[in-house]
Amino acid sequence: MKRNFKYLLGLAFITISATVSTQAQGNKEYQEQYRPQVHFSPKQHWINDPNGMVYFNHTYHLFFQYYPKDIVWGPMHWGHAESKDLIHWKQLPIALYPDSLGYIFSGSAVVDSNNTSGFGKKGKIPLVAIFTHHDPKGEKEGKDNFQNESLAYSLDNGTTWTKYSGNPVLKNPGIKDFRDPKVMWYARQKKWVMTLATKDHITFYSATDLKNWKKESEFGLTEGAHGGVWECPDLFPLKLNGKTYWVLIVNLNPGGPNGGSATQYFIGQFNGSKFTPMDTQTRWLDYGPDEYAGITWGNTGNRKIFLGWMSNWEYANQVPTEKWRNAMTIPRELSLKQVKSGIVIASTPVKELSGIHTQNVLLKNVQVNKTLDLSPKVNGFKGQYILKLNMVQLKGYTIKLSNKRAEELLIGYNAAKGEYFIDRTKAGKTDFQKNFAGRFTAPRLSTAKSSDITLVIDKASVEVFADGGLSTMTAIYFPNADLSDLSITSTDKLNISGLALTGLQSIWK
Ligand code: FRU
Repeated sequence: MKRNFKYLLGLAFITISATVSTQAQGNKEYQEQYRPQVHFSPKQHWINDPNGMVYFNHTYHLFFQYYPKDIVWGPMHWGHAESKDLIHWKQLPIALYPDSLGYIFSGSAVVDSNNTSGFGKKGKIPLVAIFTHHDPKGEKEGKDNFQNESLAYSLDNGTTWTKYSGNPVLKNPGIKDFRDPKVMWYARQKKWVMTLATKDHITFYSATDLKNWKKESEFGLTEGAHGGVWECPDLFPLKLNGKTYWVLIVNLNPGGPNGGSATQYFIGQFNGSKFTPMDTQTRWLDYGPDEYAGITWGNTGNRKIFLGWMSNWEYANQVPTEKWRNAMTIPRELSLKQVKSGIVIASTPVKELSGIHTQNVLLKNVQVNKTLDLSPKVNGFKGQYILKLNMVQLKGYTIKLSNKRAEELLIGYNAAKGEYFIDRTKAGKTDFQKNFAGRFTAPRLSTAKSSDITLVIDKASVEVFADGGLSTMTAIYFPNADLSDLSITSTDKLNISGLALTGLQSIWK
């Protein structure tokens, strides 16, 4: 991680009582300028990575790196929110507080249905969290073993948590960056597999009881992108044409394709012990600047649902929000697709998003020779909507979101270069960090003649899913007034066979 944990070491451990009530959400809260209306953000204070994402008893749990005292990164807690539909979130009291072993860094949670851990009591299935204890004292003293893996369990659906008395369960062998355990059940060998980020590679461990971990193998020293530290990994199977492949997600900071933090992944095979990639390509799950630490929910059957933190360590601590800082992406369903360059992941917003669709404007066979002004059609949408275009033949185009102050966000396709782009150079406030203003690109991976693009637009963010989600980009922006105007420009006689504009209802009302 680029930002330094060290400058915060002077801060004492804090134990504060939960400040977030489980009711009283919505209404006046969640109304600030830049407050996402269709994405999860904390009621107040700082968040980063999604943690412990698990589906249990018809509920999606979302824990997250949380500092409940300020809007900058600080001693980490696990905040908690839950949802029945992946779209409406209810923020709950803090799940895990720092303790004598350190801050509570990122990790995962599993449903221990067979009570392998022995934490279950009276037939209650334990939810077990596996997280990194980051000891700021050890770090300050220049030790190399200040990150260790620990457990906590809950017997009441994730509401309250007890830390395991035998923590840590996996001790650091002397690697400074030794963190972010993602644990899954490997049914074939009846064991848990932990995927751990260990500085510049991944180390796999296994255990039958979640407590006694044995090293299995290492991966990645010579594979993938290495512009920064490897963090927040994930490992899971996905099928394509009846065949199972294993996806290994590795978040990287810095070193992303558009600067700073980003999510890379590998596709290959995993045999319970070792991951073998199918090729040497570096793949990116999202090319935009603002999707990081993305991983998937556990216990969702054949569905693989991904969520990332919608920011970038380059400026996450400086973005101009006042009461709260940072939000999560829309949950996305992942699938594998075969393209010319190999097998890749396609991401699409989860189907549950349709639960907040409001009015729909549909246009058919629209020719864009110059500029098509859609502003009157989106005026009623209050800045949160989906734009979807289908094109029988892909040509260059620019979608512009703008306001009367000449601030504009540009999204489009550059046909000469074969790439999608987001340009936020003139989209409002950018001076809080030198790398914020910029133009970001993603290669087009599809070779089809036809194309589609879906934009999920919120108050201050856009997520771009092009060609069925083969090229995905996320960016945040901070205009001085809402970007409530919308137009599409093309000088190439772009024929849009279908154009849909769909309003989205705020999730906080
Ligand atoms: C990734 C990360 C993790 C770490 C956490 C600390 O954004 O650096 O590696 O566990 O944030 O908040």
